[in-house]
Amino acid sequence: MPAIASSAPAKAILFGEHAVVFGYPAIAVPINELKTRVAIFALPQATPGQVKISSPMIGMDTTMDQLDPADPMARLFELIKKHFSISHFPACQIQIQSTIPVGSGLGSGASVSVAFLRALSSFMGSPLGDEDVCTYAFEIEKIHHATPSGIDNTVITYEKPVLYRKKKPISILKVKKPFELVIANSGPKESTSKTVASIREKHDQDPFLYDHYFESIGRITKNAALAIKRGDLDTLGSLFNDNQAILNKMDLSTAHIDELIEIALNSGAKGAKLTGAGKGGFVIALVDQKTRERVFRKLQDAGATDIHITTIGAPRLTQHEK
Ligand code: PMV
Repeated sequence: MPAIASSAPAKAILFGEHAVVFGYPAIAVPINELKTRVAIFALPQATPGQVKISSPMIGMDTTMDQLDPADPMARLFELIKKHFSISHFPACQIQIQSTIPVGSGLGSGASVSVAFLRALSSFMGSPLGDEDVCTYAFEIEKIHHATPSGIDNTVITYEKPVLYRKKKPISILKVKKPFELVIANSGPKESTSKTVASIREKHDQDPFLYDHYFESIGRITKNAALAIKRGDLDTLGSLFNDNQAILNKMDLSTAHIDELIEIALNSGAKGAKLTGAGKGGFVIALVDQKTRERVFRKLQDAGATDIHITTIGAPRLTQHEK
């Protein structure tokens, strides 16, 4: 029997991480080179209600009944049950596959939620609309860390560059001139919940300083949105560096991130910064056709992994299933 399947991209925050949790704007983009795919096969011979789940990237091979009720996956099932007013699912096998490195700042959790919600609702015969997908995926983000801004579930649901502000209507960012990023993994990252909690603590201890950081990041983000709309990539690059300088002062960088950023800049990138919660995980570098290969190679030589070149703003059809 053919599978019902859905996919969702990764994401990268270009500007405004952490400040966005405190109500400042941030810019995020989908990364289509990395994806989660959820496929659901009906098991007509199995006992009704039996739901098998396999997710090789996190070593999961279980059934729905065996899930801890606090597990994000268990909560996803509950949300769908409530949405459809049902008490059990038709017997099925759910396969979750992802090429997004887990816990590295590229939104792997939100990507699984979005692909899962779309696939399971389609399997139930009535695919959820974007608004419901985004709302439910946000519920799961709250399990991952208590005070998510909502940027990950939003950009991954809508698959477009967004200028995002907490609790404000989503604003899709028009990209005048498509631009290229090299994204590269610096290595293991501290958990987002820990990093977000540490920034909240620092803000409580010195609100004057941290409000100043957030305001500066907010200004950089607004200027970056203008640069993207105007196609001014030189300005965009230097704004990456300005944002990184503040993230550095907030102690969110690491020696390896700093090293990779320096290498990217010395290899011709127009700007570079960490992306996501920081303290490890991915870096992004703004490149062009002339510099991208060199930046890629030099980052690889310096020990970065999962390196990709991605184009932001290239026209493409939004298609949840490929
Ligand atoms: O590292 P990630 O993918 O979990 O991104 C976190 C981004 C933060 O701004 C630090 C938190 C948030 O909820 O926006």
